[in-house]
Amino acid sequence: MTEEKNISNDELKELQELVLYRYGYDFSQYSKASFVRRVLRFFEVAGVASFYDFKYNLVNNKEFFAFFLENVTVNVTEMFRDPSFYRGLREKVLPALATYPVIKIWHAGCATGEEVFSMCILLEEAGLLSRSIIYATDINPKNLDQAKKGIIPLTAMKEYIQNYHLSGGRQDFSSYYTARYDNVLIKKELRKNIVFSQHNLVTDYAFNEFQLVLCRNVMIYFEKELQNRVMHLFYDSLPSGGYLALGIKESLLFTDVRWKFETVDAASKIFRRKT
Ligand SMILES: C[S@@+](CC[C@H](N)C(=O)[O-])C[C@H]1O[C@@H](n2cnc3c(N)ncnc32)[C@H](O)[C@@H]1O
Repeated sequence: MTEEKNISNDELKELQELVLYRYGYDFSQYSKASFVRRVLRFFEVAGVASFYDFKYNLVNNKEFFAFFLENVTVNVTEMFRDPSFYRGLREKVLPALATYPVIKIWHAGCATGEEVFSMCILLEEAGLLSRSIIYATDINPKNLDQAKKGIIPLTAMKEYIQNYHLSGGRQDFSSYYTARYDNVLIKKELRKNIVFSQHNLVTDYAFNEFQLVLCRNVMIYFEKELQNRVMHLFYDSLPSGGYLALGIKESLLFTDVRWKFETVDAASKIFRRKT
């Protein structure tokens, strides 16, 4: 299997149907090229001998499927990733959020939590954290387990500190965590208003109303039709004047809700639902 380095269209379809019917995850509208790359990489990592073996394990071994799920999505993240995006939030979104008595925020596709911890730092510095509830969701339970721990490798911190200052941060970044051997633990006080939960953007529905929804580096892996579905889901999750922050890599352009939003920050793709 690993020598073939490819998977036929029929096999791909069979794989997607199997995962859908056995486990309820629908990957049929993920961008084909990157999804196939991830599957082939999984075959290597898991030492899959044949497509038949793969199917057998997938159906009969839940742990094998959990490992598949872990590998088939792209989980790369950072604190204060794309600092200009956080500068945009600080300057153009937080002042408006400050006018609400309770602030509800949704991070869709939060991975291992670094983006959410960054948001908590922004809120804390704006004096808003204590009246904020931050919902952080992901399709991948392993990511959520990691995120709940609030642990980050020490080696990553140098870059994160730089990102933080580039985003306009003025505090001593080390006051937000405690170092323990090779890791840092993000302070519990910062994380106490985060609610982590599993949510699949492909199959699940809106579950609350938020003043701000963030979804960065997630829809780039979806086909246009699925991007459109997810944009409707976000639209339904926002009140008039609610903010949608997609980050520099995403686009609203191809979705049919684009005219229902006004642009707040064009480069960082931050939008506001029109009244
Ligand atoms: C590249 S990470 C982005 C993390 C973070 N938003 C950032 O920009 O740093 C993509 C995340 O999207 C999640 N994801 C992929 N498909 C999803 C889906 N259908 N529903 C919810 N999350 C999904 C993955 O598990 C992964 O954690």
